[in-house]
Amino acid sequence: MDLERLKKEAKKEAFLIRDGFDLERWRIKYLGRKSALSLFFNSLSKLSLAKKREQGKEANAVRHFFASLYKQKKEDLENNSFFPLPLIDITRPGEKIHQGYLHPLTLTLRKIIDSFQKMGFSIIEGPEIETEYYNFDALNISANHPAREMWDTFWLKSKVKPSSRAQVEGSQKSKMLLRTHTSPMQIRYMETHQPPFRIIVPGRCFRYEATDPSHEIQFHQVEGLMVGKNISLANFKAVIEEVVKDIFKQRVLVRFRPSYFPFVAPGVEVDIKIRSKIENKSTNEKSTNEKRLKIKENEWLEIMGAGMVHPDLFRRVGYKNNCWQGFAFGLGVERITMIKYGIDDIRLFFGSDIRFLEQF
Ligand code: PHE
Repeated sequence: MDLERLKKEAKKEAFLIRDGFDLERWRIKYLGRKSALSLFFNSLSKLSLAKKREQGKEANAVRHFFASLYKQKKEDLENNSFFPLPLIDITRPGEKIHQGYLHPLTLTLRKIIDSFQKMGFSIIEGPEIETEYYNFDALNISANHPAREMWDTFWLKSKVKPSSRAQVEGSQKSKMLLRTHTSPMQIRYMETHQPPFRIIVPGRCFRYEATDPSHEIQFHQVEGLMVGKNISLANFKAVIEEVVKDIFKQRVLVRFRPSYFPFVAPGVEVDIKIRSKIENKSTNEKSTNEKRLKIKENEWLEIMGAGMVHPDLFRRVGYKNNCWQGFAFGLGVERITMIKYGIDDIRLFFGSDIRFLEQF
């Protein structure tokens, strides 16, 4: 019998004892009547007196060692001092789970979509990678048109063979780009749908520009297109006034300024002015957002380009001549959000600064 090895083993197992059951199992194994040690004691009787004395002494020492180990473990368990029992400390304070927030642009987009949906507009989406044809040519912006300068463009190195794409679109234009506005969807949608209809197209646009507080290389627009019989700018104004009132939840004035886009005639730019609320004056403590919003009050702010759809576009998509009228608009989602929350730098939207994002 290798008593040293037995001792080592017992020590190792004692180390793993975590509760009363472990402890009892350990006691039976090392101190019980059928334990290796007991069997060893029993076998001593067959030995000579001298050997019995010698080995009995060693075995007794081991038994004392086991007994004291047992006592120690039992005390430890009772005092909870070597292993916290149960293993989960229910008294420990909980960890705070970090609460996420919706991005301010998401909030505005949802609001805008909701407002238009209430007025019967369908939500359509289009590709962010566009062809030169849909982004420019089909919208009366040919390659040498000075208006192209309004849209600095990220051109892509296209892998698609020019001939095949030209076939698909019935156009010789083949270059690919990141769409500079959502207007290409006017053409795409009209190519496959007959009036009357009203749609909005929310989406991301890209412009190859230097960034500053009011310019970003990526931003969002909501394109709008309503085509039917006897549609006029008056219908457009009514729709926009309704939507703007719904988004800002306060008194907003809307005005049209003459402008130019090759795909509308006439073209306008739409400005809004937020009227200060009378309550503002009486309230002493206002939130930061509202305080900053005050700066923007009583100032005309541009929120979109718009106009009556140019007859060239109707002709291009194959609509019957002189049959339809429609208005189109392109609304700047960042603009609206900045006005609504008093944000003074467009670059904050894509800066991923949690201190900014947490405020919404
Ligand atoms: N697409 C134009 C722009 O990005 C805005 C616009 C849309 C103007 C629809 C008229 C009609 O500036």
